[in-house]
Amino acid sequence: MSLLKIIDKEFVPYLGEQEIQEKITLLAAQLNKEYEGKKPLFLSILNGSFLFTADLFKQITIEAEVSFIKLASYKGTSSTGNVITAIGLDANVNGRHVIILEDIIDTGKTLHHYLPDLASHQPASVKIAVLLNKTEALAYPVKVDYSCFDIPNKFVVGYGLDYDGLGRNSKDIYQLKED
Ligand code: IMP
Ligand code: MG
Repeated sequence: MSLLKIIDKEFVPYLGEQEIQEKITLLAAQLNKEYEGKKPLFLSILNGSFLFTADLFKQITIEAEVSFIKLASYKGTSSTGNVITAIGLDANVNGRHVIILEDIIDTGKTLHHYLPDLASHQPASVKIAVLLNKTEALAYPVKVDYSCFDIPNKFVVGYGLDYDGLGRNSKDIYQLKED
């Protein structure tokens, strides 16, 4: 791992592939236990969560389904303020145990805006699992149930996370370099 340059910014190594995969393995083991017999529906929030979802779901050994929605509120390194649903829910959520998969929770705005919509489909339960949790940045009442890493309030890229669409295709996670 060395310095990563994307457009006008420099990023330094932060979380390596191995420690990311180890945490995902632990999370999968926990979910396999807690959701045994419940046939959970994993609901992955695109785009950022696609690698996290793939690596986690491969290690889910109980009966389970996966579906995807696409929400977006980010441009560059800060939130635009508006949350849009670019691809909506197609799965039947009624009576299902839903586990939302997010790459990162920052302010919580994206999920805070989406949760009432999901609730209107009457799931049996909803829990939130995230790869990265920027605990200090949380500004909306969103409860994170499972977090692989609690991280400081600094912009990160890699392993699905992007800066202006780039950087998602890195196995490791990088942090914005301080000037
Ligand atoms: P929130 O709505 O403020 O919680 O932001 C959630 C979304 O913003 C995430 O799903 C990411 O797509 C994006 N995001 C937040 N922080 C970062 C970051 O540090 N790097 C890349 N994307 C981020
Ligand atoms: Mg995201």
